[in-house]
Amino acid sequence: MKFIVVANWKMNPSSFREAKVLLEATRKAAESARHASVIVAPPAIFLRDLKKGYKGKKISFALQSAHFEAGGAYTGEISLAQGKDAGATYAIIGHAERRAAGESNEDTRKKVAAALAENITPILCVGETKRSNSGEYFGFIKEQLHAGLADLSGTALGRIIISYEPIWAIGGEKTMSPRDMHEMAIFIRKSAIEMHGDKGMGIKIIYGGAATESNAAQMLREGDVNGLLVGHVSVNAERFASLLQAIEGAV
Ligand code: 13P
Repeated sequence: MKFIVVANWKMNPSSFREAKVLLEATRKAAESARHASVIVAPPAIFLRDLKKGYKGKKISFALQSAHFEAGGAYTGEISLAQGKDAGATYAIIGHAERRAAGESNEDTRKKVAAALAENITPILCVGETKRSNSGEYFGFIKEQLHAGLADLSGTALGRIIISYEPIWAIGGEKTMSPRDMHEMAIFIRKSAIEMHGDKGMGIKIIYGGAATESNAAQMLREGDVNGLLVGHVSVNAERFASLLQAIEGAV
């Protein structure tokens, strides 16, 4: 059994030299982590050279974001085909920070379809900004899922990863409670089943938001998830190595 661990470097580090050093440390840590498949999402500008210099087998690469169109007048954007050409086999879609910058549910729907067409595995992010006791966030998550998964066939569900990321937890040191994650995982599967029948049962779900070396094992044991999407801890080589080690203890 292998957990998926996505290292989302976001807009870090500031130079290619540092990115190489970080990838080398990540490679070493990933190689001794028998129960983790590591996916590194570096800034796109570093992707091709990092991939070229990487000699191992354990790490795959992801785009942090991509446009759904194959080409055209979209200044500053990157297409999925370009990402693939540079070495990406995964793409993060609908990350909270991209949604905050204007990415819509409709965009995520097109991006998921475009990624699958390029044979890139979409990592579709969903998550609410805040929670209250009335549970209205379930409706919000359902809407995000219904949009993002609308164009899929049931069989394509096996080729997609859902990353549940409560926005209120991102950037901190404390995840949501694994029990609440477990509840959310059941809800996500139920929504996928509603849309695509029994195949929805097997959909892969990971958790993102303040995953650290201290809480990773508990989240994986109790949260009913197949892995983690890690932000700030993934750009700290020592902490990320400890997180991967902690996962070994969760198996
Ligand atoms: P942090 O791990 O820094 O909270 O970021 C996680 C994240 O952005 C989830 O996508």
